This record gives sequence, structure tokens and C-alpha cells, in this order.
Amino acid sequence: DKANYRHFMAKEIHEQPEVMGRTLARYVDVTAERIKLSQELPFHFSDIQRISITACGTASYAGSIAKYWFEQLARMSVELDVASEFRYREPLLRKGDLAIFISQSGETADTLAALRYAKTQQVHTLSVVNVPTSSIARESETVLQTFAGPEIGVASTKAFTGQLMVLAALAVAAGKARGELSESDEIRLVRELLEIPRLIAAALGSEPQIEKVAREIAKSRDVLYLGRGTSFPLALEGALKLKEISYIHAEGYAAGELKHGPIALIGENMPVVAIAPYDQVFHKTVSNMQEVAARGGNIILMTDAKGASEAIAHTLATIVLPDMAATFAPMVYAIPVQLLAYHAAVMIGTDVDQPRNLAKSVTVE
Ligand code: F6R
Repeated sequence: DKANYRHFMAKEIHEQPEVMGRTLARYVDVTAERIKLSQELPFHFSDIQRISITACGTASYAGSIAKYWFEQLARMSVELDVASEFRYREPLLRKGDLAIFISQSGETADTLAALRYAKTQQVHTLSVVNVPTSSIARESETVLQTFAGPEIGVASTKAFTGQLMVLAALAVAAGKARGELSESDEIRLVRELLEIPRLIAAALGSEPQIEKVAREIAKSRDVLYLGRGTSFPLALEGALKLKEISYIHAEGYAAGELKHGPIALIGENMPVVAIAPYDQVFHKTVSNMQEVAARGGNIILMTDAKGASEAIAHTLATIVLPDMAATFAPMVYAIPVQLLAYHAAVMIGTDVDQPRNLAKSVTVE
């Protein structure tokens, strides 16, 4: 049931405040302002030397963002792979370490094969899945469910932010268990997580503006997405979302890589979506935007009020998102990224919920 929406994807994008609320209720003790997870895990984070994260597509970008969180909040080293590479690489896993698998469907063939390989290496396996009865959930030692509810649109939206919420809670739990975060750090981070549903609701308010920007995108043959830090995997996600539902060619790049090649593409005909919350690397991204502007490139900037006032580069449009602490910004910046792809596709007239050549669950490799 699409309720009053034109597509399942639109409905699912708009469900995200609710989804985040449900996921939070499971993993956060709201009154104590603590993460609930630590007691229920069959391992102690202090015994883990390295985490490996494996997933495909959008789920792999959630894993890529989580890598920044585990490093920053828990000082843990993380290796990340797409499942199709992991399974045939037969990577070296140390007995007793932790392997995390992320999958909406829980049936993705490559991710399942990667999980089965990990189990032969005697590591702890933990899956972040949306379907609790799925193969990946059944075969993992620990299952952390995302409470996104059924996702019908082929392009993953609410499952992605749900995965981010679970992984954020897990990274905070890891930081606390390893003594990298104090009790007051944990409380501060939990408060930031509890703000996310409200911030996502506010970000959804930018939809009318994004619809206008999407007209520019819909006219383009190629689009470049740039970001630094956790905004880099989100740039990859933005490019994936746009290409899969609008069939416009898009690429995501770490903003700092611009001058190592992609800058050659910049001209009037290729819009550049810059994802840049006002964080530690904001000014670095701005200098990349200036390089784009100086070559006649059209910039669509996604930032907050402070970022908008300090961006000092000409933009085609600036989408101003709510102010928030930077750590968990990807959960909020995912919204304009999804909406931009959605509205571009609607304008082009593609089959948004069932894009050509794609299946919701990739059960063959
Ligand atoms: C992108 C998308 C795919 C999936 C990927 C993994 O919008 O939906 O890239 O993220 O096929 O699927 P799951 O999460 O079911 O393992």
C-alpha cells in the first residue's frame, strides 16, 4: 500500500523519522541515555583486534560510514569489502575477531557466502539485517535487526538509514566497552542519536527545493557527487541512487581526489553535488568547490546554515539542512540525497520502484 504517495520509494523516504524512532527504541535506553547493546553481545569489544565489514551496494556504503565511526569512537581498525570480493579473496581473519555483515534482505548471495566463509575462520559473526527470518539472520551468531519494515522500492532508502542507526549504536557501545568513551561521552552521543528522527523530519522539509534542483539534474547526462569524511561514502550512495533509478550516469568521489583526475570532466554540463556539513573537513571541501566553480561547474551544495554562510563559492543551489553535531550527519544528509535521485527519476519518467535490470534481492551472484 502506497498510502497517498505516488511511489513506494517516496513513501519509504518519508517513513524514515518513524523507522529511526523504532530502531532507537530497541538499541537505546531512553531514560538512562545509554546504549542497550553491550550486555547482550557474545564477545567483549576489548578482545577484538580488528573488525571486518562486508556487504553489497547501498549496504556497503552504510558499512563504509560505520568504518569512520568505529575508528573515531572506539579506535578500532576496520577492514571493509564488498561481498563479491571478500568471498573469493579468502581474507585473513583472526580467530576471535568480529565480522559484520549488512543486508536489508538478508538473502544477498555474495553476502551470505561471505558470512559462511567467515564462520569457517572462527570469528564472531554479527549481521545487521532488516528481515529477521532471512538466511543471513539465521546463520549469524548475533543478529541486530533494523526496524525499517518491508522495503518495496528496489532502491534502498529507509533500510540504509536504519543500518546506519544500528551501526552508530554499535560503534558507541564499542567505544564505551573499550574505555575510549566516558559515561558522559556516551550520554552526549546518545542524545545526538535521539535527535535524529526530528532532524530527518526537518530535512524532509527541503523537498520542494530539491524538486526544483532535480529539474537541473534531470537535464544532465552525467553528475558528480563529492564529499569528505563520512560524506564520501554518502557521495557514493548518492551516485548509486541516481544512476539506478534515473539512468543518469553519476560518480561519487572523495572531494580530495578531484584534482587527481575527475576535475578534467568539469564544465557547464556536469552538475556537482557537494555534500558538506559544517564539520572538521568543511573548509577542505569548500576549496574543492571553488575549483569546480572556477571551471564553470554548477554546484549543488548540501550543508547547514553555518556552512551556507561560509561556503564562499558560487552555487546553483544550496540546500540548507538542520544544524546538528557532525558525527551522525550522514543519517540526515541521506534524505536530500535520496530525494534528489527520486525527483530526477520522476521528472524523467522512469519506473522508480522497479528500475530496469534490477531485482530487490540478489540471490544469485
Ligand atoms: C541500492 C540497492 C542495492 C542493495 C544491494 C544489497 O539502492 O538497493 O545496492 O543495497 O543489492 O542488498 P541487501 O541489503 O538486501 O543485501
